[in-house]
Amino acid sequence: MNKLLVLLLMLGSFALVFIQVQATMCMVCNSFKSGHCLAGKSNCTTIYKPGCRTRNYFLFSQTGKWVHNHTELDCHKACLAGNMYFGVMKISTFCCKGEDFCNKFHGQVVKKIIY
Ligand SMILES: *[C@@H]1O[C@H](CO)[C@@H](O)[C@H](O)[C@H]1NC(C)=O
Ligand SMILES: *[C@@H]1O[C@H](CO)[C@@H](O)[C@H](O)[C@H]1NC(C)=O
Repeated sequence: MNKLLVLLLMLGSFALVFIQVQATMCMVCNSFKSGHCLAGKSNCTTIYKPGCRTRNYFLFSQTGKWVHNHTELDCHKACLAGNMYFGVMKISTFCCKGEDFCNKFHGQVVKKIIY
């Protein structure tokens, strides 16, 4: 009886460690530019599969190019990678996991021209 209890406790702690290993800490930022958070800096933890979210906001310029405006970092349980278009605005989403604060590496660093 005692052995069973010990076994259950061990299984329980293994499960806890497993969940902790799967969790990824992400950076939260409302306005991230060139590797720095300008507003709303915080952090969050996600245990969901897609992981941390990075959203790069681009605006269509008068010269006919997509120009990076700002980047938003957060956690989202249904992070969906890809591009979304809202008129003159484009949101390019990345999801990452496995490395803490990995979402800041997907933020647009230099003003890149995306065709
Ligand atoms: C996460 O954010 C909290 C405040 O929101 C802060 O106290 C803590 O130091 C942050 N942790 C890391 C690892 O940046
Ligand atoms: C562009 O970035 C600024 C902050 O630098 C922000 O205030 C503004 O709302 C952004 N524009 C769009 C369309 O996201």
